[in-house]
Order: sequence, then structure tokens, then C-alpha cells
Amino acid sequence: MRNKIEQLLSEIEHLAAKNKEEVEAIRVQLLGKKGSITMLFEDFKQVTAEEKRELGQKLNQLKVRAGEYINRLREQIEAQSETVTSLDTSMPGQPRPLGTRHPLSIVRNEIIDIFKHLGYTVAEGPEVEDDYHVFGALNFPPEHPARDMQDTFFVTTGDNPIILRTHTSSVQVRAMESQKPPIRIICPGRVFRNEAISARAHCIFHQIEGLYIDENVSFADMKQSILYFAREMFGADVQTRLRPSYFPFTEPSGEVDVSCNICKGKGCNVCKHTGWLEIMGCGMVDPNVLEASGIDSKKYTGFAFGMGIERIAMLKWQVKDLRHYFENDVRFLNQFKTAM
Ligand code: DAH
Repeated sequence: MRNKIEQLLSEIEHLAAKNKEEVEAIRVQLLGKKGSITMLFEDFKQVTAEEKRELGQKLNQLKVRAGEYINRLREQIEAQSETVTSLDTSMPGQPRPLGTRHPLSIVRNEIIDIFKHLGYTVAEGPEVEDDYHVFGALNFPPEHPARDMQDTFFVTTGDNPIILRTHTSSVQVRAMESQKPPIRIICPGRVFRNEAISARAHCIFHQIEGLYIDENVSFADMKQSILYFAREMFGADVQTRLRPSYFPFTEPSGEVDVSCNICKGKGCNVCKHTGWLEIMGCGMVDPNVLEASGIDSKKYTGFAFGMGIERIAMLKWQVKDLRHYFENDVRFLNQFKTAM
């Protein structure tokens, strides 16, 4: 019996199992009802009293060792199976939902691309500006209603208060201050106005400003550039019309309409049955504005224009509620997957 115990003790050291079933088989083989260790306990009943002490100790030791060993095998196999699942290269991958470009970014990029072909480069300026760059240098008289608390978000008060820019025309001023003509820039950016949020208005929206200053820049150049833009943006058969308007920083000033791309000029809800849609303001840069930024208005002339990106996006996709552009509901955004 002593030999049998010794033999089993050394045997269990070499036991190995590939899976849980094999571990269970080993357990049954050693410690099950008919297992070799269980059988030894049966034999133990027959040994003499003198041997009982020594053999009993050894037998218990064997039982404990076998139990420990089986547990260790079981743990090893469990650990292995965990690593195997996390490393299984044959498992299909977890799909990651692909984002889309925001519709306003799509339109902004499209507008930039069109003007790039006419030689414009992108310029940017701060969203938090001073009154001088947003109004003063653009020929807004001190009492002009656009400076009113109703429209402008003020950050500070005083002579030249810090405000949130209400239009991207402020970037014109920054460009004229820092560059010599010829200047040909397009300035996309976020603007802020103290408006109640509704389907047609928001306190944050986006504009693109354009500015071209050089010798002999004429009103005809402006018309032609805008026509080129309108055709690229809305299709070759689009009609444009220029209405006289007023902006403090341009003289003469105009507003540009394009023929309604939905009803083709026949009249519908979107164009309010006029057949025309307004897309931008424009004009020849007022000499006062050139001079305020140190540009010789005898030598140089220029034109400027400004449009709302939301407005162009609305016309492109007929999204009638502006708020969709700001809510970032993926059900809305995913509809622009193919427009990138
Ligand atoms: N800044 C004007 C606005 O926010 C848009 C505008 C009109 C820009 C005429 C211009 C311009 O450059 O010439 O309503």
C-alpha cells in the first residue's frame, strides 16, 4: 500500500488536461466512487494498527495533493479559455458606426471649393471681437441699431466693448489691417446674435464672407463672380438677380436672389410664391472702410459679399427648421452620408 501511495503521488505531478472534460475524468479516476485514491481508503481499513498512523497520514496527504492538483488544472484551463476568446482572430469584428460630416460643414466646404477656383484663400478671425472690428471700422455709425443690446451679445461694456461677433465681416477688417492688396479672401465662421430660437432664427449661426480688393475691381467683376458661384452651387440653369439694398460698409449695396430651385421660378411655398430666393448681401467696399484700415481708396477698389451657411444648406436640402442643424440628432445627420 505504501508503494501504491508513493506511485500515485509521483503520477499526479505529471497529469495534464486539455479541457474541462479531461480534468473531470482525472478527478473521477482518482477521487470518484471507484477512484484509485478512494479505493486506497477502502484498503486502509484492513491495515494493521501500527501501520495505521503512518499510512493514514500519507493517504490524507495524497488526497489533499490530488485535490489541489485537480483544482490547479481546472484554473489553468479556465484562464486559457478566457484568453482564447479575447484573441480569437476568426471572430467577426465589432462594427464601429462611421460618423458623417455635418451638413453645414459639407456646404461650407463646397462654397470654399467654388471660390478657391476664383483664387480666393480662406481667412479666419476671432469669434470674441471688439466693437471696433465688428462695427466701428465697418462704417457703422455709433447709433446704428445693429449695435443694440437686442442683437449683440456683450462681454464687456465701455468705449470699445468686447462682444461676440454678429457677422463675419469683422474678418475683412482684420485682413485689411494685416495684408496689402491684392486681397482675395473667403472667411467662414460662427456668428452670434441675441435672437429667440425658432425654426427660422438661432442665436448661433454660420456665415461666409468674401472680400476682393485690388486696382480696378469693378461692380461687373462682383456680378460675374456671384453668378459663377450661383451656377456652381445651384446648377448651370439658375437665374440670378441683384436688388439694391443698404449696408453701412458697402456703397452701392445689393442683395442677390437666385431663381427658386424647387419650383424653377413658378412659385412655391419655399420661395413664398415669388420664384426667387435671397442668398446674400454684397456691394462695393465703402471708401471709408478701406481708409479706416489703411488702404488707399484712390488707388484700390473692392467688393464684398456675405451669406448665411444655414440658409444655403436650407435651400440645397429644403430643411425648413434651422434647429435640426444644432441638435445633432444622428437620425438627421445620417441622411447626409452620401453628400460628403
Ligand atoms: N454682414 C452682413 C450681414 O451679416 C452680410 C453682408 C452684406 C456682408 C453685404 C457683406 C456685404 O460683405 O457686402 O448681414
